[in-house]
Parts: sequence; structure tokens; C-alpha cells
Amino acid sequence: MTGYDLEEDPSIGRVVLTEHQIRERVAELGARITADYRGRAPVLVAVLKGAAVFVSDLARAIELPVEIDFMAVSSYGSSTRTSGVVRLLKDLDSDITGRHVLVVEDIVDSGLTLNYLRRNLRARNPASLEVCALLVREGADPTELDIRYTGHRIPSDFVIGYGLDVGERYRNLPFIAVYAGDRASGRNPPDPAANA
Ligand code: IMP
Ligand code: MG
Repeated sequence: MTGYDLEEDPSIGRVVLTEHQIRERVAELGARITADYRGRAPVLVAVLKGAAVFVSDLARAIELPVEIDFMAVSSYGSSTRTSGVVRLLKDLDSDITGRHVLVVEDIVDSGLTLNYLRRNLRARNPASLEVCALLVREGADPTELDIRYTGHRIPSDFVIGYGLDVGERYRNLPFIAVYAGDRASGRNPPDPAANA
């Protein structure tokens, strides 16, 4: 049950990652994080709203006493995208000073959101600061962006499902698919940056 009649929704395009593929990759990431953070109690900082689904599965794949906290940010549309304007909408509840922080993101596209978060969180003097992104856009350089854990690299298509939305819809799809657009209105996929 997906809550969508897939046959009837032409906006749900080609499946990029099946539910099974996501589950396997999340388990692998969880195992690596468990090994890397052995003996420590990391704080998973998930970026709302997109990473909410991913962090709930990832946290259960980590066999350590993790804490989960949330931040919400918004980045502005194409005109401001390159200017680096990211706004903090919701801050963490907890103090991360001296803690091992793992930022959990749904997708890293331009890296703008991630760079903002990294600067913002580093200023609070965590013991360590790493990033786990389920999806990283091809073209984005994971080395330059310093993403420790990457789930999958995906092409430039706008994608939906497993937390990722278009206008708040499709977050509950258990798989990730290309957004095929609203054919009825002929609209194109939205600018990802306006949709963090
Ligand atoms: P960045 O700041 O350009 O890296 O954008 C990251 C944010 O844009 C993500 O956290 C998502 O919320 C959003 N985003 C980017 N690409 C997509 C997509 O294909 N589908 C849904 N949201 C996206
Ligand atoms: Mg997001």
C-alpha cells in the first residue's frame, strides 16, 4: 500500500530506487556507522522535512545509543540560490558541544544547504561533525562536500518519495521515483532549492 494509485498518477515516473534497494543500502550505512562510532553515542541531526523518513530507518539500523534531533532550513529559489541564502527555521533542541554529530540529509544537490549546516553546527564546537546523505546528485563532488556516508548517486532528474516531496506530496512513497511533472498543467518540476 502506497496511498497512491501508481497506475493513475502519471507524475510518478521511473523508479530510481526500489523499497528493497533502499532498505539494503540503509542497512549497510547503519552497519558502517555502527562500526565507525563504536563506543560513542552520536547525535543524528536530521534535516526536516525530507530526511525524516530516512533518519527513522537509519537510526534503527545503527546499533548504538543514538540521539535524534532535527533542524529545519529553507533555501530560496533560483535567483538567490548561488548567493548562499539559507534560513534557519527550526534549531536543535539539544546542545551539541563536545558531541559526535552526524548530519542526516535526504539529498545533496548544490551543497548549499549542507555548507550552511556545516558552518552553523561547527560553530557550536561538536567533538566531530560528519554527514550521511541518502542521495547525492551526480555532479556534486562528495569529496569537496566532504560527505562521509553516501547512499546513492543520482542523475539530475527531480525525484520524489521516501521523504522527498513536490509541494509536500509524495513523501510517503516507499520508493524513490523521478517526478514526471504535472502533465495536466504542463508544469515543470520545481526548483529543488526552493523545496528544502
Ligand atoms: P541543495 O542546497 O541544493 O543541496 O539542496 C538540498 C535540498 O533541496 C534537499 O534537502 C531537498 O530538500 C531539496 N531537493 C534537491 N533536489 C531534490 C529532488 O530531486 N527532490 C526533492 N527535493 C530535492
Ligand atoms: Mg531537505
